[in-house]
Amino acid sequence: MRLHVADHPLVDHKLTTLRDETTPSATFRLLVDELVTLLAYEATRGIATVPKEIRTPVTSMTGTTLASPAPLVVPILRAGLGMLDGMTRLLPTAEVGFLGMMRDEETLKAVTYANRLPDDLTGRHVFLLDPMLATGGTLVAAIDYVFERGAREVTAVCLLAAPEGLELVEKHAGGRVDVEIVVAAVDERLNEKAYIVPGLGDAGDRLYGVV
Ligand code: URA
Repeated sequence: MRLHVADHPLVDHKLTTLRDETTPSATFRLLVDELVTLLAYEATRGIATVPKEIRTPVTSMTGTTLASPAPLVVPILRAGLGMLDGMTRLLPTAEVGFLGMMRDEETLKAVTYANRLPDDLTGRHVFLLDPMLATGGTLVAAIDYVFERGAREVTAVCLLAAPEGLELVEKHAGGRVDVEIVVAAVDERLNEKAYIVPGLGDAGDRLYGVV
């Protein structure tokens, strides 16, 4: 498993406003969108390409284009939805699948309640979107899910990660070079309710309101 922590003053600036409890939902949504676009740039660094012959107005040349099959972007509902536009802005040819996963607040285990993914993901590079890598349970389950369907590579794009969650993913997929996590920051720890500290609170609630 590879971990990439985006190290950029703009990322830190936007993240600080996201963390601020006085930031309203409308601004929060906008900032998540902008932040994900910056993370998407990092997350797509290793995306597969093929040479492409073109003619410029001046001469012929061999350029580069994204390889087939198209990448698959999978927001993990509900909070991952807030990251979808930021990701597809940079990857407009990607297809989109959906995974509904939630944490059982008693067992803290991931439960899958919705799945709109192609059955066959052979050869696909899958980008999982989940803003908060907290216990890691959801991400581990989602990684297993897409590899079972034949995915070639998985990149998880998260806003924040807790060391506990990273440790779980490392335990599960540590030996795999085809798993990467791209994150804006790694925070201190989880609290007793498995919230990331200092974190930004409940990402779904801050994006869409309390349910
Ligand atoms: N999910 C969230 O939305 N926030 C956390 O801090 C942890 C999990």
